[in-house]
Amino acid sequence: MTARTESRGTPPERLALNGGTPVRATPYRWPRYDDSERRAVLEVVDSGHWSFDGPREAELAQALSAYLGIECAIPVASGTAALDIALAALDLRPGDEVILPALTWTAPARAVVVNGGVPVFADIDPRTWCLDPAAVEAAITARTRGILVVHTYAHIADMDRLLDLAHDHGLFVVEDCAHVFGARWRHRAAGTLGRIGCFSFQQSKTMTAGEGGLAVTADPHLADRLYGLMNCGRKRRPEADRWFGGNYRLTEFQAAILRAQLRRVDDHIAAKTRQVANFRAGLGEIPGLTLHDPDPRITRRNFIALPLTIDTREFAGTCTDLIVTALAAEGVPVFLPHPVVYRAPAWVAGRRQYPGPRSLGADARCPVGEHVAEKAGIVIAHEAFLDRWPDTADLLDAVDKVRRLSGTIPRDARDTRRI
Ligand SMILES: Cc1ncc(COP(=O)(O)O)c(C=O)c1O
Repeated sequence: MTARTESRGTPPERLALNGGTPVRATPYRWPRYDDSERRAVLEVVDSGHWSFDGPREAELAQALSAYLGIECAIPVASGTAALDIALAALDLRPGDEVILPALTWTAPARAVVVNGGVPVFADIDPRTWCLDPAAVEAAITARTRGILVVHTYAHIADMDRLLDLAHDHGLFVVEDCAHVFGARWRHRAAGTLGRIGCFSFQQSKTMTAGEGGLAVTADPHLADRLYGLMNCGRKRRPEADRWFGGNYRLTEFQAAILRAQLRRVDDHIAAKTRQVANFRAGLGEIPGLTLHDPDPRITRRNFIALPLTIDTREFAGTCTDLIVTALAAEGVPVFLPHPVVYRAPAWVAGRRQYPGPRSLGADARCPVGEHVAEKAGIVIAHEAFLDRWPDTADLLDAVDKVRRLSGTIPRDARDTRRI
């Protein structure tokens, strides 16, 4: 942290929100790219093969399946598409219940609904913000068909216990790995532990083509279904069954960019590992913000955003959203976490389309998730950890400054940012 001394005549330090100089003027860069992405896109333009079973899509699928260590990888248009076709491939039926975490993006829960199922929200573990296995167990009924596990921000859910539960109750497990591409649980890639793993390559993710997604499975019959669902019912191989599909294809442009991005992922993971260690060491000196301890069973970590627990008492009792606003004004790419799904504005609006007293989890109550989402959680986007020192020092300076001056945060500054 930079030592700050104030001498007579020095103007008092002010928050950027109050007209002071932001700690960091230059935004952290994301997405990262170089000539390999530029060249790859131009080659697709010149090839005339812009989509549909193209050579870049095939090459990407092969590279992703090798990287993740799983037989079948089906590139798709988005993470949302991957989740939608994953549940369709598992033959979700009207009224089937799928248990998933309360605190997550709406896409996994919506995938249950659009496939005719019933999303059952279970509470999260406060140490990881991922599904609490005890809450999952308590939510299992005779109608439960599966568990949709989401590995949230930087953690992998407790897959040992969740897979045991699924096994004991005959449930499928789908993993949503939108946040953790390349992370490993006991040396196995996240996304390869359940029946189907789903990934997103949308702009905020750690590998991106602006949009894009992926579904992976070790089961070639499920892969046939996923392919058919993704590509208008076409067959992945002659012996495959026909499946009632739509168009959720990735273009050759996206495939070419993602192939280039995949070559950079390991360097990014290594940089983040170093920088998070620096950040953790520095944060120990600043009260009020705590980094979660990673589960030792996560043998490789990747994240779209680093989750932190905030003690607002150390910030003059200021609400978390105001602290986030003040940090953002200092140049920190910081956000509130997802709201719990059943309170997310778009989700609540969905109750008009799906009316009923228990519609879309209207009766759900997950106090840990609500507390994290509304009071105790913040996340810092991954691009803040991709460079070298002193970038992480900027983060620490900004946190320290906002904490010291938190009594001066204007109470009307609220700008709700969520990731
Ligand atoms: C946990 C999670 N799952 C799924 C998705 C959906 O991915 P996409 O935006 O590619 O549709 C997101 C999007 O951010 C997400 O955060």
